[in-house]
Amino acid sequence: MKTINIALVPGDGIGPEVVAEGVKVLKAIERMDEHLSFSFTEFPWGCEHYLQEGKMMADDGIEQLKAFDAIYLGAVGYPGVPDHISLWDLLLKIRKEFDQYVNLRPVTLLDESLTPLKSRTEKDIDFLVIRENSEGEYAGAGDRLFAGKPEEVVLQTGVFSRKGTERIIRYAYEEAQRTGKTLTSVSKGNALNYSMVYWDEVFEEVGMEYPDVETYSYLVDAASLYFVNDPGRFEIVVTSNLFGDILTDLGAALTGGLGLATGANVNPEKEFPSMFEPVHGSAPDIAGKGLANPLAAIWSVSQMLDFFNEERWGAEVLEVIREIIKEKDNLTPDLGGKASTADVGGSVASMLESRK
Ligand code: NAD
Ligand code: IPM
Ligand code: MN
Repeated sequence: MKTINIALVPGDGIGPEVVAEGVKVLKAIERMDEHLSFSFTEFPWGCEHYLQEGKMMADDGIEQLKAFDAIYLGAVGYPGVPDHISLWDLLLKIRKEFDQYVNLRPVTLLDESLTPLKSRTEKDIDFLVIRENSEGEYAGAGDRLFAGKPEEVVLQTGVFSRKGTERIIRYAYEEAQRTGKTLTSVSKGNALNYSMVYWDEVFEEVGMEYPDVETYSYLVDAASLYFVNDPGRFEIVVTSNLFGDILTDLGAALTGGLGLATGANVNPEKEFPSMFEPVHGSAPDIAGKGLANPLAAIWSVSQMLDFFNEERWGAEVLEVIREIIKEKDNLTPDLGGKASTADVGGSVASMLESRK
């Protein structure tokens, strides 16, 4: 029997609502597969915890999480706690401490009814964004000088180390070679004359080792345009932390919105647990009302299963999501339906079981 030990960090707002549905799906799989089981340990960390205890997670929180195979996270951040505190002390801390330097965010249209793009279908919008997830503009390096004075200056430094830049680009080349797909680097070397010039150099240099991979390189502004007017030109995209953040919300807009966008924060060496989460945040505007779409969080479960070499189940979960979205009655209001968060999770779990 294989057991995957999962730390649940439901977090804030709609986080707990959508994580509960992902867990429902994992439990359904456990009932069907006698060789696979999951153990769940929940951590009550987040903004409420901060308001009560003055901290987002336990002091030894990272130590506690280290013992798990994976972290399944909902969302972090809520009005009442400044975002730079809540995110830096929980979500970004986990990504950093566990060196989850690869962020895998598929931009995959599951059904043509979901895209706002005219006459685009599933075959036009199907690519993977590989976002650098450990440094760059998110290094946390900066300063505020001469605070309050007329000469005040604030610095936020993008950090691009040899190790950090090379490993993400190499990961992307490996993925492109393994899948036979094209690889597109998105950067901004015309204006960011240190960081992105370096990124472009490393992209070219590492590329010498992968002569069979067909590559493209775009500036991020042009890439944003192509995402919308010619998404079919992308297969695998590799980009920096901030560009990847922005581009994947744009990607979400092309494929059905944030309710359907997933991300895996991966430490490929498996030295530390990887973390699976929807791309969206805590959505305070709809929290607590049963309106949140749990499909992004359920898709994260599919990514988690793939990561643990349970690709058969990973694919099965994605297939069921593909089925579910064909019927408006199955869906939450963001996708034009009237179903609740729990209804959607229930439909996925029962459809999964009925396929067996
Ligand atoms: P958000 O993703 O929470 O919401 C943006 C919009 O998308 C809102 O209108 C929301 O209702 C909608 N939406 C998001 N998820 C949805 C879902 N599953 N179903 C239906 N609609 C959904 O972004 P925001 O409003 O900019 O941020 C809110 C808080 O979340 C902030 O504190 C922010 O820092 C944080 N945040 C956290 C994460 C994370 O934990 N990974 C990601 C993004 C934002
Ligand atoms: C995401 C989020 C985070 C990020 C925020 C909440 C720090 O937007 O996961 O996309 O910028 O990485
Ligand atoms: Mn984001």
